Amino acid sequence: MTESVTQELLRLNQKLLDSIANADWASYAELCDPTLTCFEPEALGQLVTGMEFHRFYFQLGPAKTPHNTTMASPHVRVMGDVAIVSYVRLNQRVDADGASSVRAVEETRVWQKQNGKWKHVHFHRSM
Ligand code: GLY
Repeated sequence: MTESVTQELLRLNQKLLDSIANADWASYAELCDPTLTCFEPEALGQLVTGMEFHRFYFQLGPAKTPHNTTMASPHVRVMGDVAIVSYVRLNQRVDADGASSVRAVEETRVWQKQNGKWKHVHFHRSM
């Protein structure tokens, strides 16, 4: 069965989130446009452009305890060669003491089809 555009975008977005959790810089960089822009809590209210800000966190390495990332109630809006994926991101973690916790943040991610491939061009994450 052929994958719909919505399914493709959800798969790519999940791959992006998993690459963050696994500190897989090669996959993250492949999915992103090099001029990626974002607002995220780590940027303290500043609009960040480019990849270097994000690379810093990947260099810290992957989470050392079990973790899982879920897009809850994702919504996909396709507008030609641009698409918006919005959802609540649930991050499940186990801390060093073995206790599990869940954190929820709202995310909006914008994708643009460039030369036949979807590239991540902008995101906004809540506190
Ligand atoms: N901080 C990297 C990302 O959420 O895409």
